[in-house]
Amino acid sequence: MSTHDTVVHAITLASAAGTSRLYELRAADPATPLPAFEPGAHIDVYLGPTLIRQYSLLNSPDEYGRYLICVRRDDTGRGGSTAMHRDITVGGRLRVSTPRNLFPLLPAQRYVLVAGGIGITPLLSMAEELARRGADFTLHHYTTADAPLRERLRASPFNDRVHPHDSADGDSIRTGLPAELCTADPAALVYVCGPDGFMRHVTEAATAAGWHPGQLHLERFTPAAREPDPVTDGAFRVRVASTGDSYPVPAETTIAEVLTANGVDVELSCEQGMCGACLTPVLAGEPDHRDEVQTDEERAANNQITICCSRSRSPELVLGI
Ligand code: FES
Repeated sequence: MSTHDTVVHAITLASAAGTSRLYELRAADPATPLPAFEPGAHIDVYLGPTLIRQYSLLNSPDEYGRYLICVRRDDTGRGGSTAMHRDITVGGRLRVSTPRNLFPLLPAQRYVLVAGGIGITPLLSMAEELARRGADFTLHHYTTADAPLRERLRASPFNDRVHPHDSADGDSIRTGLPAELCTADPAALVYVCGPDGFMRHVTEAATAAGWHPGQLHLERFTPAAREPDPVTDGAFRVRVASTGDSYPVPAETTIAEVLTANGVDVELSCEQGMCGACLTPVLAGEPDHRDEVQTDEERAANNQITICCSRSRSPELVLGI
């Protein structure tokens, strides 16, 4: 994946208590502009040799030359947000990937955007774009007292389409869906981003209300919870094409762990199927994809696999390494 050197141009508070910050990134070399992006896109931010985190771009895609990301500090997390808040200062450098979009805005007559907390970030960029197009949309933002970007939404030119839902007032997604989601509309698409439980609740309730699964689009920050699969959770083998060596991959062990234990160099970062650092070519066999980085088309091609978390549907996978 190609990367770009940026400089941190500005850092501002995105929530009253300061738990969320906005980072404005610009090209380190002004002669090499940052690649354009689409609403819903995210970038990988390289915080260290083994610390890569994904952040949605929340500014308008029309704003060439800068990336705006929002980071909510979570000291109980895996370290990415803490490192951003602790180590990144104005004027510092950050390496980022080319924007990638697994959450594209598809054509529809109407859009319903549903954000939980920090999940507002990709939906804000979408709302900017939909407002620019003059599209029919509403944005539901489920918040807490220190939710990020509340003031920015209030000040937006489309604030009449923004419906804040404050949990302090008892208005949470668990007390009920927004009224417009209680009846399915075949002309509409629904975009949802937030914590895993939040998205699960929206999709289950919306599906029960008659929305077709194809109308519901989700963006994840963490891997989806997965039911055990007696077929693909079991053992299989991997063969390294360059050497011909074949290794058993027991249940409960990842391909990456097996390769590393046998002295095969592999690139790893998130180890959760979220960053794509470990994508490895597949020459034969059928992967059981468990990542969140490949598009449906890329998964269907079955020619690469995230070896940190994905498994195999066939007895053996041959890897192009
Ligand atoms: S290490 Fe991030 S997807 Fe595998």
